[in-house]
Amino acid sequence: MVFSSSTDEHAIKRHHALTALIQQEADRRGKLSFARFMELALYAPNLGYYEQHRKSIGRKGDFFTSVSVGPLFGELLACQFADWLKELSSSRFAIVEAGAHNGQLAQDILSALKSDHPSTFNRVDYFVIEPSPNRRQWQAEQLGQLADKVRWFESWTDLSSFHDRSGHRLTGIVFANELLDALPVHRLRWSQMSRSWREQFVSFEGSELTFVDGDPSPEVEAYSRRIAALARSGKTTLLWPEIPDQLLDVLPDGFVTEICPSAGDWWQQAAETLNKGWLMTLDYGLSADEFFSPARTKGTLRAYRQHHVTDDILGAPGEQDLTAHVNFGAIELVGESTGMNTFWSGSQADFLTWVLSNRVKAAGWQLSRDQVRQFQTLTHPDHLGRSFRVLVQARQVNAAK
Ligand SMILES: C[S@@+](CC[C@H](N)C(=O)[O-])C[C@H]1O[C@@H](n2cnc3c(N)ncnc32)[C@H](O)[C@@H]1O
Repeated sequence: MVFSSSTDEHAIKRHHALTALIQQEADRRGKLSFARFMELALYAPNLGYYEQHRKSIGRKGDFFTSVSVGPLFGELLACQFADWLKELSSSRFAIVEAGAHNGQLAQDILSALKSDHPSTFNRVDYFVIEPSPNRRQWQAEQLGQLADKVRWFESWTDLSSFHDRSGHRLTGIVFANELLDALPVHRLRWSQMSRSWREQFVSFEGSELTFVDGDPSPEVEAYSRRIAALARSGKTTLLWPEIPDQLLDVLPDGFVTEICPSAGDWWQQAAETLNKGWLMTLDYGLSADEFFSPARTKGTLRAYRQHHVTDDILGAPGEQDLTAHVNFGAIELVGESTGMNTFWSGSQADFLTWVLSNRVKAAGWQLSRDQVRQFQTLTHPDHLGRSFRVLVQARQVNAAK
């Protein structure tokens, strides 16, 4: 990696420490799956990208999310959450957020609930699932007094044991904005010659990181068996590795795709923990068959640095964000296999327009000029409207729109 003269010394030291960590692991194992490389590059304690880059999101950061557009996104979600929670008969319920990053979205949602839906606010427990102590601290600082309303959990297991101790099961809403696209993916490459999928691993050539192909790892084999079993029991979708021979015949040699076992695991844990209510993700993503469109021959993995997309995925571990599109077909199938009903699956533009039109009809909501500008950015196909999708699944609630 080449550092500019303005790069601070701490960043250089962190980068060297992280590269040494990756090298140690590569030496020990021979090579790393891309998923393990991505896990270290983004989440190695105190060194990974998300451990240090509190200000990575927003106009001055590396990338932009719906939250950076302004508070309207959180206000619209708060309205919808309040409507959904009204349907529940319980006296208390939870909103669980994961991937809360700097706490801005939690703050926008809680502020809107407090001012516009006070009776819901009083009955809600806001839980954040956050494995990193650094990020828990940023979130508490951002929330200020609203932090009193929030309880943090390290993992689903931690949250489940809290429910077991209190004798309750989770009732309410579980959601994440742009979490699943930040989970580690495995990269697969189609070899027309051997008519098989090869996994792309990460290794060192001298001091440079490079991709090397190999037989699929046990994690990929296990994922493949899981999807094959789900596809047999569920509706038929074009999901790796369930690809018809006619498509494999015409797939270009070297076609790349990604799979994300951790996204399926996360969705399954969330669905199994939720006893009654809604499970939602808003994310960069594609339907299952869109992963095999002719425009996707290089896959969907991207690195972001200072608002620029770069193809140099291995270039600067810890200094750039790595993200791959979420396979909405895969997580939909996983959720349905746990008994959830799919309530919404579509673009962010359609979802937010539906939420807003309900508010306009029910409460005569009128947007200010600034809110109109925010709404356009959130829904316009050239901004965040088309590339972002929303999946909502529901359990034991009225799943009709
Ligand atoms: C792209 S950022 C999320 C952006 C934020 N939700 C927003 O809307 O601005 C992804 C976040 O998910 C966090 N994350 C990764 N794995 C996680 C996990 N298993 N549980 C909770 N958060 C996780 C990352 O550290 C990072 O803070």
